[in-house]
Amino acid sequence: MIILKGVTKQYGGLAAVQDVSLMIPNESIYGIVGRRRAGKSTLLSIMSLLESPDAGEVYYGINGDERVDILCGERLRMKRRKTGMIFQKGNLFESRNASGNISYPLEVAGMTKKQIARRVDELLEIVHLQDKRTARLRELSDGQKQRVAIARALAGSPEILFCDETASALDPQTAESILELIRDIHDRFRLTVVLVAHQIGLIQSICDDIMVFDEGRIVEVGTVQQLFAPPKTSKERVYA
Ligand SMILES: Nc1ncnc2c1ncn2[C@@H]1O[C@H](COP(=O)(O)OP(=O)(O)OP(=O)(O)O)[C@@H](O)[C@H]1O
Ligand SMILES: [Mg+2]
Repeated sequence: MIILKGVTKQYGGLAAVQDVSLMIPNESIYGIVGRRRAGKSTLLSIMSLLESPDAGEVYYGINGDERVDILCGERLRMKRRKTGMIFQKGNLFESRNASGNISYPLEVAGMTKKQIARRVDELLEIVHLQDKRTARLRELSDGQKQRVAIARALAGSPEILFCDETASALDPQTAESILELIRDIHDRFRLTVVLVAHQIGLIQSICDDIMVFDEGRIVEVGTVQQLFAPPKTSKERVYA
């Protein structure tokens, strides 16, 4: 479970995230949808413990009772290892081939060469890239690069997977195959998945709950069915 209580993050005079409280159930697929600059990536970086909020609290754990935003040093590093992140900007190393990218977090974690080789084989199988083990990044399609990013995010066997616009820049068919892969991984490893997208249409088929986010605030939260029901107010929907 992930719980945010009153989380706020400012950049200079700009409040990128303003007093956000939410609860993400264990093993669910939770969508965060909003237009450009809504603050989605900032929110994700706070949830994933890459950034600290200026105010508010973040909790993990089966019962959501483990406060994690105040951790530091080795305890923070250990907690971060339970999370995997697929960054919006890719963040893959051009200088490394597919398996070199996937092995990076395992090298940082100090695993032996033999352990790393075995784990990279497993990860390549999970993302269906067994035949691309030694491929340079420039030889891979955008969808294949996202598969490498997914494999790298899974390297440390995380309990939570954060995906920032992982399928957004892909053609519809490739986007669908990436989302299918994320759903399969969720089902197989019983992960909690948080998916960020700027269009609800892209991710609605795989999300249990969706939160609509705009100008750093939650606009609406619900199941896909609830969000597509006739609006209770005359407020214009920002994600249609
Ligand atoms: N490190 C930073 N320093 C200063 N301002 C930042 C920083 N990160 C984000 N911002 C600002 O905070 C606001 C929210 O940005 P954020 O990247 O979280 O939005 P987003 O919803 O992910 O946008 P996009 O859909 O373009 O990815 C923007 O106005 C952005 O310029
Ligand atoms: Mg973003």
